[in-house]
Amino acid sequence: MNSAIMRGRFITFEGIDGTGKSTQIELLASELAERGIDTLLTREPGGTVLGEEVRRILLDPRRRKVSPHAELALMFACRAQLLDEVILPALENGRWVLCDRFTDSSEAYQGGGRMLGSGPVRTLHRVLAKNQNPWMTILLDADLEKCLSRARVRDRIVKAENQGRFEAESLLFFQRVQKRYREIADRDSQRIVKVDASQSIASVHQQIIDHLDSRLREEQASDADFAALASDITLRGKPLPGRVNA
Ligand code: TYD
Repeated sequence: MNSAIMRGRFITFEGIDGTGKSTQIELLASELAERGIDTLLTREPGGTVLGEEVRRILLDPRRRKVSPHAELALMFACRAQLLDEVILPALENGRWVLCDRFTDSSEAYQGGGRMLGSGPVRTLHRVLAKNQNPWMTILLDADLEKCLSRARVRDRIVKAENQGRFEAESLLFFQRVQKRYREIADRDSQRIVKVDASQSIASVHQQIIDHLDSRLREEQASDADFAALASDITLRGKPLPGRVNA
């Protein structure tokens, strides 16, 4: 795994619109701040000057003619900029990064929803996102129709406009997105934790904290195993695996 990711921790939040992602990401950020962890909160598409400009183009409901491949490319343009400008420097400084959406969104929305398939998304992830996989991904999963009606009400109130380009998509589109999200979670079950988002805000938050703490305990246990192995090998005068014997 990349050393930058080892020092800081990269956590992403995923899910269809209206699962309460933004609320949960902010609650986790406050919990981490209370634990004294230096945390950076960001989002996709966006999070940089370039990314926010592209976000306006991507979400503008008047812009109907965006080809699915152009949409995918723009998502990755935002991602490449965000990684270089924000995420990787923060991780290298030992900060924790919480990101609202990342490559899984492209795989679910463009790969599944727009039917481009996972192949092109995974290829672009390797090339343009340097294959940077989150340390942990929280997938908020809930009943599709409830989520969509919640997203639509929110957008009318908060955005003071009609639906954005994605919210205006059909139920079938979102069924494909949700299906692909669940497939990704099954495939990458080590990284992704699926959380039932239909429960109360407090209970969803608690589930997220429980998953985080258990992931940290697992990591500590495997670090302790590695340290024990390393000292055993050093005691026997053999070089450590993967390290140059000075
Ligand atoms: P936003 O209003 O931020 O939605 P949410 O609060 O649900 O995250 O809009 C982001 C939209 O962009 C959302 O509908 C999902 C979509 N999206 C993609 O289609 N592909 C991507 O790679 C990303 C990052 C987002």
